[in-house]
Amino acid sequence: MLIPKHIAIIMDGNGRWAKKRGLPRLYGHHAGMKSVREVVRAASDTGIRVLTLYAFSTENWNRPKSEIKGLFNLLKLFIKKELGSLHKNNVKVIIIGRISELPINIVKLVKKATEKTSKNTGMILNIALNYGGRQEIVDAVNEIITEGIYKKVDEKIFEKYLYTTDLPFPDLIIRTSGESRISNFLLWQSAYSEFYTTKTLWPDFKKKNLMEAISDYQKRNRRFGGL
Ligand code: FPP
Repeated sequence: MLIPKHIAIIMDGNGRWAKKRGLPRLYGHHAGMKSVREVVRAASDTGIRVLTLYAFSTENWNRPKSEIKGLFNLLKLFIKKELGSLHKNNVKVIIIGRISELPINIVKLVKKATEKTSKNTGMILNIALNYGGRQEIVDAVNEIITEGIYKKVDEKIFEKYLYTTDLPFPDLIIRTSGESRISNFLLWQSAYSEFYTTKTLWPDFKKKNLMEAISDYQKRNRRFGGL
C-alpha cells in the first residue's frame, strides 16, 4: 500500500480539550505534547519520510503572553526530554519559520537539536515554529531580490527559496478538532495535498488515529489535475 512520503499536521484543539475538563489551556498543550511524542514515533516506525508539525504560527503571537511562554516552555521540555531518543532512532530534526525572531534560548536549543541530528538518515521531523505560509513566500521573494541573480523566475527556481527546499511536498495534511481551514500553513506546498480532517482533539490523537488517516489517504485517487 502507498505510504505518504510527507505528512503535515495542524495540531488543533488543545485549548478545547482542557476546557472540556475544566483545566487551564496549558494543560491541553501539555497533553498535546504527549500526542506529539506518540505520533512522531508511530510515523517513524511506519516509514514516513517527513513529518511536519505546526507548533507555533506567526499569528500565535496574538495569544496571551503567559500562553506563549507556556508553549515555548513545552517545546524546550520536549527537546530536552526527547532529543536523545530521536537521535537514537535516526530522526533528523529540522525547523521552518522565522527562527531569528524567537527567544534566544529557544534559538539555541533548536540549533542544538538540528545540529546533533543533522547527519541522521531516518525520518525528518520538521517543526514549523513562528511559521506562516504567506511570510514564507514573501521571505523567498525578498531573498531572490537581494541575491539579484534572476530577472525572471519559474516555479522550480522559486521553490528553492522556500523554507522547505529539498523536502517533498506534503502528500497528506491532517487537521484535528473538526476545523477545515489551512490557517496559513504550507500555502505553496499544499497545492495538491490530500486533506484529512477529524473531530478528534489533538491531545486525543494517537497512533491509531494516524493509522486511520493513512488508510483514508490510501483510498484516494490523486490526479494532480490530470485524468
Ligand atoms: C492548537 O490548539 C495548538 C497549538 C497552537 C500549539 C501546538 C503545540 C503543542 C502540541 C505543544 C508542543 C509542541 C511540540 C512540537 C513539542 P489550540 O490552542 O488552538 O486549541 P483550541 O483551538 O481548542 O483553543
